[in-house]
Amino acid sequence: MSDFSLHTSVDGGFFREDNGRKFQAHNDDYVLPADQQELDRLDHQHYGFKARQGGKNYLAPIKAVLGNDGRGKRILDVGTGSGIWAIEMAQEYPAAEVVGLDLAPVQKETVPENCRFEIDDASKGLPFPDGTFDVVHARLLTVGIRHWRGLVNDMVRVLQPGGLAVLVEMDGMLRLDGDIPLEQQREVAPGYTKFCDYLDMAIVKRGLDNLAGGSTIPQALAQHPDLQDLEQVYAPLPFWPWSEDPQMREAGRIMLGDSAEVPHACRLFIVDACEISMQQYDEVTRGWFHDLGREGVHSILPIWHNWAFKKVP
Ligand SMILES: C[S@@+](CC[C@H](N)C(=O)[O-])C[C@H]1O[C@@H](n2cnc3c(N)ncnc32)[C@H](O)[C@@H]1O
Repeated sequence: MSDFSLHTSVDGGFFREDNGRKFQAHNDDYVLPADQQELDRLDHQHYGFKARQGGKNYLAPIKAVLGNDGRGKRILDVGTGSGIWAIEMAQEYPAAEVVGLDLAPVQKETVPENCRFEIDDASKGLPFPDGTFDVVHARLLTVGIRHWRGLVNDMVRVLQPGGLAVLVEMDGMLRLDGDIPLEQQREVAPGYTKFCDYLDMAIVKRGLDNLAGGSTIPQALAQHPDLQDLEQVYAPLPFWPWSEDPQMREAGRIMLGDSAEVPHACRLFIVDACEISMQQYDEVTRGWFHDLGREGVHSILPIWHNWAFKKVP
């Protein structure tokens, strides 16, 4: 048992506190924080995504479904976090209706009129009737979703025929950019890869899926009888501005705001699952910070964009 469980308190039923950080108390699987420090990290990550995607909120053919302003269309963002993607989609498609769903009421308070948030656990089924949405989007839910096939089935259920399911997800097995064998990665960046190894171990020990983005999700999409025109794009996010490519460099610059927070955000997740002490975790964290920004350490968050259209009968 980690030091965290010693200081638990509950706040209004939605939250609990552990060692100075606030967590949602709705679902035992998701143990990243739900406080302002974490929401700021997620916003940095969002802008890192945008920079990597040439200033766009998506790589999937969402515009083809929503048209110019999204008139008569509905968008769902599953696991919306701070709600920033949902809010920006509502601004980009001012005639569309956008819903962000999350376990915790942590979304921004100032939102466009065509955007709203609902609180619920997506693992228990999406709380919407069949065929409600034209686009259903989910980004970075690896540490919250145990059964991807169930989520994919439900995303397809709530889609209109012709609608688009988009899942943007990491895959735990890559740490450095390029096709470098893991052993070599460990030599190039021992501290950074050790942190990644612990994160990967924690995901597996918690019974979550460390191969969601690269394997599990595309398989679930490919095997769904109501889906067609699947595509997968690999677009890793750099953790710091190591790249010469202007888009990657800008994404890396923005991602520094995320990278500096990753070890703090993952503390409870890793310490509990890997049964290590706080002191051991601090040592692992030092390795991450030692390698971050070091020449030759092209560290990345490995991201796959997977999407597919719901067939029109
Ligand atoms: C890493 S954050 C990503 C937030 C957002 N998608 C983004 O990309 O900025 C994961 C979010 O998913 C939410 N989440 C995790 N599991 C969930 C579940 N079963 N149902 C609803 N939301 C969930 C968490 O509360 C958290 O806000």
